[in-house]
Order: sequence, then C-alpha cells, then structure tokens
Amino acid sequence: MAIALLSAKDRPDLVDAAEAMGGSLWPQWLTTAAQRSYWSALYQPNLAAFQTIAVDDTSGEIVGLANSVPFWRGDALPNTGWDWVLEHGVLAARSGSATNALSALAAAVLPSQRGTGLAQRLLEAMKPPARAAGLTSMVAPVRPTLKALYPLQDFATYCAWRRDDGTPFDPWLRTHEAMGAHVIGPAMASQTITGTLAQWQHWTGLKFPASGRYAIPGALAPLDIDLAADLGICLEPNLWMEHPL
Ligand SMILES: CC(C)(COP(=O)(O)OP(=O)(O)OC[C@H]1O[C@@H](n2cnc3c(N)ncnc32)[C@H](O)[C@@H]1OP(=O)(O)O)[C@@H](O)C(=O)NCCC(=O)NCCS
Repeated sequence: MAIALLSAKDRPDLVDAAEAMGGSLWPQWLTTAAQRSYWSALYQPNLAAFQTIAVDDTSGEIVGLANSVPFWRGDALPNTGWDWVLEHGVLAARSGSATNALSALAAAVLPSQRGTGLAQRLLEAMKPPARAAGLTSMVAPVRPTLKALYPLQDFATYCAWRRDDGTPFDPWLRTHEAMGAHVIGPAMASQTITGTLAQWQHWTGLKFPASGRYAIPGALAPLDIDLAADLGICLEPNLWMEHPL
C-alpha cells in the first residue's frame, strides 16, 4: 500500500472529505474564534498549495492532512501563537501583503497509519511550496500529543522532559526534533476556546456546578468556568518550534 501526498490546489475535490477526516481526530471542543473566521480560507486558490492531503493509493481512503500558512515573521513569535498566525496568514493572503515565513498549523493522521512516518512526510511536504513562494523560515506552534495525559504538569516543564536516550518525552515533539526542529518557546495562549456552559457541557459530557477550574479530557490546560457570565474559557498552549527550511 502506497500513500500519495496531494496538494489541495491540485485536488480541491478531496478537500471536504479531508476536512471531515481531520476534524474527527480533534476533541469536539477544540475550535477557536480565529478558526471559525479564517480556516476555510486555507483552501482558497492562493493558499491551497500549502495544504496537503494523504491518500491511500489502493483504497482511495484519505488517511492524513497537513495545513500550513505563509505569514510575515517579525522579531518575536507571539504568545497567541496558533490563533495569531492563522489570522495574520489569511489576512496577508487576502490583502496580497508580503510574507517571509511559513507556519505549520496542523497535521492529522488516521490512527491506523500512525507510527509509519506519514506524519513526518506530511511535515516535509510543507517545505517545497514554502521554498517556491520564496519564504525563508518555517515555524510550528506544536501541540504535544501526550500533554493531555499530564494535566497537572506545567506546560514548559512537560515540554522539556527527555527520555533516557536524550530525545523528547513527548512523541510529537520527538518527531519535530528528529526532523531538525528546535524549540523557540511556549505560546501559552495559542488557542482560545470559549463557549457557554451549555456548550461546554455538550462538548465534554461534564456538568459544572460551580465557578472555577476544571480538567477536561484531551485539554492541555484547565477550563475556566464563570457561572455568572455563562462562560467557559480554555487557553490552550502550544510550543513554537523552528524547522530548517
Ligand atoms: C500528531 C500525529 C499526526 C502524529 O502522528 P504519528 O504517526 O503518531 O507520528 P510519528 O509517526 O512521528 O510517531 C511519533 C512517535 O510515536 C510512535 N507511535 C505513534 N503511533 C504509534 C503506533 N500506533 N504504534 C507504535 N508507535 C507509535 C512512533 O513510533 C514515534 O515514536 P519514536 O519517536 O520513538 O519513533 C497523530 O498523532 C495525530 O493525527 N494526532 C491527532 C491530531 C494531532 O494532535 N495533531 C498534532 C497537533 S497539529
């Protein structure tokens, strides 16, 4: 079985199915305001070359999806990492303003294909279109895949954990590092997820009898519930990493 990597620019017919596959791999609550406003723009003609769909040659099944966006990189990468770079990347594409860097936004692989190197191929596939566009660096606000299992650990401390062999404890950070990426630093408010109490109850299956902080399954940070305001906010951290381009 061979897996083909196809650009969304060449195969717009696959985008809906790829998005459905990718969406099924994230926690239901993990949608930000920036995402609602700007995500679909990634598949417009001027950004579609930066989105890669992985297809099983034999069955035609979509098994992976990788998203990235060019943006203007200034002196520092912001604490509002993922939301910021999605918004600014899409706005730059819309206005035709200059960009000098690529940011990875997401990589998703069906569970049946994990541990096969496909995730690494998807990250590599982001680079040729970036070079072709004249971009000179590549960064990623990385979501460590096992952090949710360690809800009490400080994010930066968790990200710094190493195995006995010296490689990162977290498998997804390990993959990035194995590709030559290095850590820039945490983006502690990378994804802001807000919802009413009813929405959070629906998304998590939990009830929230009092205001305060709750650990919710799959989250990298606690959910803050404010009963009086009928509001729950989760500020998800990511780790800015820089890849060789
Ligand atoms: C993040 C994601 C794309 C990584 O895919 P992956 O296939 O697990 O990644 P890798 O192939 O690089 O594997 C990473 C490590 O986990 C191991 N691994 C992953 N899945 C495995 C499996 N099913 N069996 C055995 N080992 C597995 C790999 O061997 C590797 O370990 P190593 O560094 O010791 O070799 C995938 O987990 C995913 O789609 N998650 C949901 C979406 C997500 O969280 N995306 C990340 C934020 S953008």
